[in-house]
Amino acid sequence: MGIDQDPEALEAAREYLSTACPDTAWQLALGNFAKIEEIARKNGFEQVDGILFDLGVSSHQLETSERGFSFNQPGPLDMRMNPDIAVKAADLVKRLKQRRA
Ligand SMILES: C[S@@+](CC[C@H](N)C(=O)[O-])C[C@H]1O[C@@H](n2cnc3c(N)ncnc32)[C@H](O)[C@@H]1O
Repeated sequence: MGIDQDPEALEAAREYLSTACPDTAWQLALGNFAKIEEIARKNGFEQVDGILFDLGVSSHQLETSERGFSFNQPGPLDMRMNPDIAVKAADLVKRLKQRRA
């Protein structure tokens, strides 16, 4: 099974796997790795032989400027990997207090 908190990443994986491994029944779940045990159990996995993590930000997220991860293209200060989360990076920055050095 595969887990990602970005629905666009899951959609890309679904599309790729349907042609690369059409005979394998992949389970793809939207969720945060913080809840990996709960997600795995919900999908019928009690014991596993291994887990492969490819952590971080994807090139798709970096290259989609409107998502706010880009270093070299203008975009909103969003940075949510899961767009269903209400709080954007801009909201967090606004809450910070300014401290003078
Ligand atoms: C380096 S990318 C992996 C890209 C993927 N392996 C591929 O080849 O397209 C890291 C992925 O981890 C996801 N991610 C980062 N932190 C996560 C978390 N805490 N829970 C779930 N997914 C997370 C991101 O949304 C991103 O799609």
